[in-house]
Amino acid sequence: MLYNRRLWLQQSLTALTGMALSADVAATPKFSFTPSPGVILLNSNENPYGPSPMAQKAILEYYTKSNRYPDDYLGLLQKKIATHWRVSAENILLGAGSSEIIGLAALHVSKKKKKVVTAEPGYKVWNGQAASFGLEFERIPLTNERKTDLPAMLAAIDDTTAMVYICNPNNPTGTFVEVTQLKNFAVEAAKKTMVFIDEAYTEYAGLESLATLAIGNPNIVVAKTFSKIYGLAGARVGYAIAHPESIQQLSNYQPWPNAAISIVSAAAAFASLDDKKYVQNILTKTTEARVICTKTFQQLALDFIPSQTNFILFNIDSIKKDLIKEMEAKNIFVQSRQHFNGKWCRVTMGTLEEMKIFCTALKEIAQK
Ligand SMILES: Cc1ncc(COP(=O)(O)O)c(C=O)c1O
Repeated sequence: MLYNRRLWLQQSLTALTGMALSADVAATPKFSFTPSPGVILLNSNENPYGPSPMAQKAILEYYTKSNRYPDDYLGLLQKKIATHWRVSAENILLGAGSSEIIGLAALHVSKKKKKVVTAEPGYKVWNGQAASFGLEFERIPLTNERKTDLPAMLAAIDDTTAMVYICNPNNPTGTFVEVTQLKNFAVEAAKKTMVFIDEAYTEYAGLESLATLAIGNPNIVVAKTFSKIYGLAGARVGYAIAHPESIQQLSNYQPWPNAAISIVSAAAAFASLDDKKYVQNILTKTTEARVICTKTFQQLALDFIPSQTNFILFNIDSIKKDLIKEMEAKNIFVQSRQHFNGKWCRVTMGTLEEMKIFCTALKEIAQK
């Protein structure tokens, strides 16, 4: 994310310098929001294949309607999502990515209590915002198998707990707990606090959603996103699946319910749900990418955490060079992580071609 923004800034500055130098360019400024050719972004768990063909068609069809407020379209998208999960439209709240949904839940629970129980390592991007609402974190280490420690998390819930947040599969480890165990946990934990289940990567792992459980329990909220398997990170579409009361409460923090989604993004998300062929293709390609990577890790004797998602965490303690910087010098962007008392790298599964380039680079750097 950080690197993306830095790249964008570099390109914008280059474009601005160009504008200052040339009157022609100033007349028709061209800003590029996509990375320069040759840059390989493996740092934000994005889908490298672009939106599905059906979503792309919808985007082109609907951008001309951007002069209109999206209300009617949002209702259609809610119904579409509801049908997909066999729930009702009143169980769905749309947000600008699942990030907005997480933020709404954090804001809501912060009104009453202050402690959030979460896994360590876990997904933290929203933690700064939550802290600004006065929330504090109790971070529960993963098990020895590097999975979410459900019994320990349950034990950590007390009278001060505002919410327990679980990302399954977990980011950054890519590990997951079995859905039956998670359901049992959610039912128990929801007797005491709000249970927030982040399902950003369930499709990759083929995991059942907790949607059906959530709609019957006002203390369980499921968050889903179109940013990952559906390749729409830039369109910013996510949603909550929850009991109608919880949907109502969360929506009170939006200017109007579902307000953040544009017509274009709604159309793209709507069409994506129909493109089963695209999803299947992404799953196949992601699995192939993981195989390419894990073979390389094995060849280099690098410890890695087997993942069922579109990213893998691997240990880089044995690499003498600064892997992240060396990769960056080769225009490859990955994430540096400090976990389990060591240095790790989280790499997103890019296209097969990108993964081959990444693996060649990794071999070169690791053997220096
Ligand atoms: C676990 C998890 N949840 C939520 C998000 C946010 O996704 P978005 O706001 O794009 O839906 C991410 C993004 O990387 C993620 O990894």
